[in-house]
Amino acid sequence: MAEFQVRKDDFTKYRIVEVASAPELTDGAIRVKIERFAFTANNITYAVTGDRLGYWQFFPPGGEDPDGWGMVPVWGFAEVVESKSDEVPVGDRLFGYFPPSDDLDMTPTRVTDQRIIDGAAHRAKLPPAYNSYSRVNAEPGYDRAMDNLRMLLWPLHITSFCLWDALQENHWHGARQVVVVSASSKTGIGLAYALDDDPKAPPAIAITSRRNLDFVEKLGLYQRSVTYEALSDIDATIPTVIVDMSGNREVLGRLHAHLGDNMKRCLNVGLTHWDDVNAGNGLIAERSEIFFAPSHIQQRLKDWGPDGFARKTSSFMLQTAAKSQRWLKLRSIEGLEGLADVYDDVCAGCMAPDQGLIIEL
Ligand SMILES: NC(=O)c1ccc[n+]([C@@H]2O[C@H](COP(=O)([O-])OP(=O)(O)OC[C@H]3O[C@@H](n4cnc5c(N)ncnc54)[C@H](OP(=O)(O)O)[C@@H]3O)[C@@H](O)[C@H]2O)c1
Repeated sequence: MAEFQVRKDDFTKYRIVEVASAPELTDGAIRVKIERFAFTANNITYAVTGDRLGYWQFFPPGGEDPDGWGMVPVWGFAEVVESKSDEVPVGDRLFGYFPPSDDLDMTPTRVTDQRIIDGAAHRAKLPPAYNSYSRVNAEPGYDRAMDNLRMLLWPLHITSFCLWDALQENHWHGARQVVVVSASSKTGIGLAYALDDDPKAPPAIAITSRRNLDFVEKLGLYQRSVTYEALSDIDATIPTVIVDMSGNREVLGRLHAHLGDNMKRCLNVGLTHWDDVNAGNGLIAERSEIFFAPSHIQQRLKDWGPDGFARKTSSFMLQTAAKSQRWLKLRSIEGLEGLADVYDDVCAGCMAPDQGLIIEL
């Protein structure tokens, strides 16, 4: 079996490693074959924050000389091909968090008809939302034709939903506009769908790069779209909340300074501009906060229960997936070698924003 590994200290470097067949399964374990997964800037962010947020710990790499290498988690589908579990048979299919590799051994715990938790010891302290897998064969109305859209958009649009939920719970922080930075990202677009659909929400304003401006304008979701070079075009006379997917400290510094007292809150969500190394003069740290979707999900699972959470989010996810089909171009990539061919472009942010990469193994 093969694994796509990246250097932890320089994730622009990668290799495909052949790993000897896994040993016999222990009692209670299952082996899944990973069928397909999506790949976006979000996966690059897992590498950027791999040490800080523990992403390297999910799927330790195998093969010879694994020191210094790691596997970036991906969202995808897998089929159970061997089982020593009484509860999870061969042929079951799972949606969730996988390594970019041919297969994975898992330890199903807390098994219900709907989901399993991977109880592998090394994952116990990692955010629970990442350890939960849906058993798709048992889902009412499950449609295999939606797998690609689901694995591409679910992890991003669930974040968009959480952002909208957090903003409205906080009464938009008193803002009369929501500025979305890195507005061409799928997470940003998902938030723009949520705001557009909510009559009580303030309008969304896009900030994006020159090359993505036309795409962002054509979405018709943002009241106004400006480039990183033209931040002063944003109305600084009204209270504003910023939702930042870029992590670009130079841009945020300029934006905070431009908005001044009207910068009511800045939610730091992403790091698409991971290679920005500027200090960020002008940042208003005391009104900025890190937003981590798995923590918000955990809180809402407590507040609403798993069924309530699924009910509230599923119609949103279905709607945003349907709307995204107006512009999204799914692009099928063959195997881990195919991922290697596009990896540099995803790292460098050169992918056209309407592309949705689907890696088929
Ligand atoms: N905090 C959380 O819980 C959470 C959850 C989900 C996602 N996120 C984060 O949200 C961000 C967006 O993820 P996504 O998967 O939605 O992204 P995506 O759809 O792949 O976004 C692509 C866009 O990101 C920008 N970009 C990407 N790489 C770049 C680079 N190297 N240099 C400059 N611009 C680059 C470009 O947008 P522009 O030209 O518009 O800047 C590009 O069009 C990621 O950082 C992700 O980790 C965070």
